[in-house]
Amino acid sequence: MYKCSLILAAGQGKRIKSNTPKVLHKVCGKEMVNHVIDTMRTAGLEDVNVIIGKGSEMVKGATASRNVTYSLQEEQLGTGHAVLCAVDFLKGKQGTVAIFTGDAPLVRAETASALIKLHEEQGNSATLLSSIIDNPNGYGRIVREGEAVLKIVEHKDCNEEELKIKEINAGMYCFDIEDLLFSLNKLSNNNAQGEYYLTDVIGILKEDNKKVGALPVDFEETIGVNSRGELAVTEKILRDRINKKHMDNGVTLIDPNSTYISLEAEIGQDTVIYPNNVIEGDTVIGKDCLLYPNSRIFNSIIEDGVTIQASVVLESKIGEGTTVGPYAYIRPESIIGKKARIGDFVEIKKSTIGDKTKVSHLTYIGDAEVGSDCNFGCGTVVVNYDGTHKFKTKIGDNVFVGCNTNLVSPVEVKDYSYIAAGSTITEEVPEASLAIARARQVNIQGWVEKKGLIKRKDK
Ligand code: UD1
Ligand code: CA
Repeated sequence: MYKCSLILAAGQGKRIKSNTPKVLHKVCGKEMVNHVIDTMRTAGLEDVNVIIGKGSEMVKGATASRNVTYSLQEEQLGTGHAVLCAVDFLKGKQGTVAIFTGDAPLVRAETASALIKLHEEQGNSATLLSSIIDNPNGYGRIVREGEAVLKIVEHKDCNEEELKIKEINAGMYCFDIEDLLFSLNKLSNNNAQGEYYLTDVIGILKEDNKKVGALPVDFEETIGVNSRGELAVTEKILRDRINKKHMDNGVTLIDPNSTYISLEAEIGQDTVIYPNNVIEGDTVIGKDCLLYPNSRIFNSIIEDGVTIQASVVLESKIGEGTTVGPYAYIRPESIIGKKARIGDFVEIKKSTIGDKTKVSHLTYIGDAEVGSDCNFGCGTVVVNYDGTHKFKTKIGDNVFVGCNTNLVSPVEVKDYSYIAAGSTITEEVPEASLAIARARQVNIQGWVEKKGLIKRKDK
């Protein structure tokens, strides 16, 4: 049967107090609405339409990579009105539409699939996700007659009896498209909030003798984020899920409560991660790595057996067995070879560093291609920028760069050469030669006394 999905994401989210639309607030590094879109896709719903309104351009921008379509709800007159704004998307279609909210990112794809399956197996007009909780404050209540779902009553519209109901509406549903379109036209805004409620569709279908079902699920999956407090609760739940997955896969997290790993990251077995590591984006970390505290690794590939300490690695690749840090900064488009060493206060930008090359301390390498088995002395600077243009430096294999060397780009240093400490290299260094590019030392004997600057005691 044909299936599609609608995601409600038009509200500003007053209670979150932000200039950014609520659904763009991130949970574990990903916007809530993108979590929901990705979950829909994993559940097999390809055709996804997002209803946007407040901050619509921002929401479009943030979801651009997801290949969805949009419906515009210019004025936010309620969740039912929001779905009415997607009539162009729905009309003429026959089958099931799954309607989810962009502010509830914890629902699992398996749960969405189970909802769709139940809906189709029971041949319902509507099937909703519900949950039973002790404190149902703020949520719409599911009113049942015996087993059957009768209607949903919003918290603000509940009478005393209804307020006691502990089964709540998760705000996630499947509808038969034609039945939904038919009942949307019957919605009124005659309620406590003066809004057109999507939830009223349930009662309308029931009155038309249509079949309505409900699937109760764990409350955790249904949490909707309305405030910063709920955002933090949601973040913690998702973080726990992610960290548990990695620990189940054989990764040691010394303190899972202070380890922050993106949903997409992959980590190999026997890797050990100390507290306060932030692993973001599509990062892939190999086996047997050691991540000491306080690093941030974004969209990078870290091969097996790498050790990193208190460093930042962005959009780069670190080869097998290499050590990084403490306090190294590896900037985008860098490729570090195997068994290399990038030490303290070293910055590498858009450069390749060969296998076993050591850049141990206080060095900047930018826009350079460096071979293998080289050694950089302390305080080397690749001078890659003349204030207007960036230039490339090329260094061969087995090169020894003395301390405090400047390599003024563009320049090439060939294999097996040595550069004397304190040199400012502006011309090519030929293979297997020693380059010295500094003023020769002059000692003027007795100069200080002659100037009368020291009085010796014995005189
Ligand atoms: C809604 C449900 C409630 C349910 C709860 C679960 C209604 C009337 N109520 O309440 O039964 O228990 O979710 O979390 O549906 N939105 C629009 N356009 C609008 C209004 C809202 O797109 O005009 C979007 C919001 O951006 C948000 C979602 O719909 O993503 C839910 O809206 P929200 O105001 O948070 O509804 P709740 O009061 O939480
Ligand atoms: Ca909500």
